[in-house]
Amino acid sequence: MNIKDHIRGVPDFPKPGILFYDISTLLAHADAWQVAMGRLARDVRRYQPDVLAGIESRGFLVAAPLALKLGCGFVMLRKKGKLPGKTIRHDYDLEYGTDSIEIQQDAIAEGQRVVVLDDLLATGGTMTAGIELLRKIGAEVTGAASIIELGFLPGRQRLKELGVPFTSLASYDE
Ligand code: PRP
Ligand code: MG
Repeated sequence: MNIKDHIRGVPDFPKPGILFYDISTLLAHADAWQVAMGRLARDVRRYQPDVLAGIESRGFLVAAPLALKLGCGFVMLRKKGKLPGKTIRHDYDLEYGTDSIEIQQDAIAEGQRVVVLDDLLATGGTMTAGIELLRKIGAEVTGAASIIELGFLPGRQRLKELGVPFTSLASYDE
């Protein structure tokens, strides 16, 4: 099965000139989603995670079912102000302005092996921020993964520079 047959490209979303890769069609197709999760489980298992971290919001859709499949814990990396209790924050630069993500302080024990999941890797800004936040709280980030990767953007290279191995199920060159 080709995963790409179940991913829809929506032109000019959210802005003119942007082709949006939509995983809604993959999620809605029970058999295709099962196959995708099976392949991701096989690839992510190699990083021997104790815990999977999902990045809000579409990363949750990937990380939570995968954690269940792998028998790992699941933790949320959330946008600012959403998590109760003591949190640790990481601020990072966007093309215009800055953004922040947070994790609960006690979500991960020092030295636990964590793999970060998202639906899509583009510039790598989001994934890099997730990795830096996890490192801040003492996690050992052993890998990162996504369903989709935009191969014409520098995401994979940025993760390589951080020393984090990365895998995806479908790579697009335009
Ligand atoms: C999208 C996507 C990734 C990120 C990839 O999330 O789900 O998280 O952008 O882009 P990058 O590699 O250039 O950082 P978005 O911020 O649109 O939010 P959402 O997941 O809440 O829809
Ligand atoms: Mg996202």
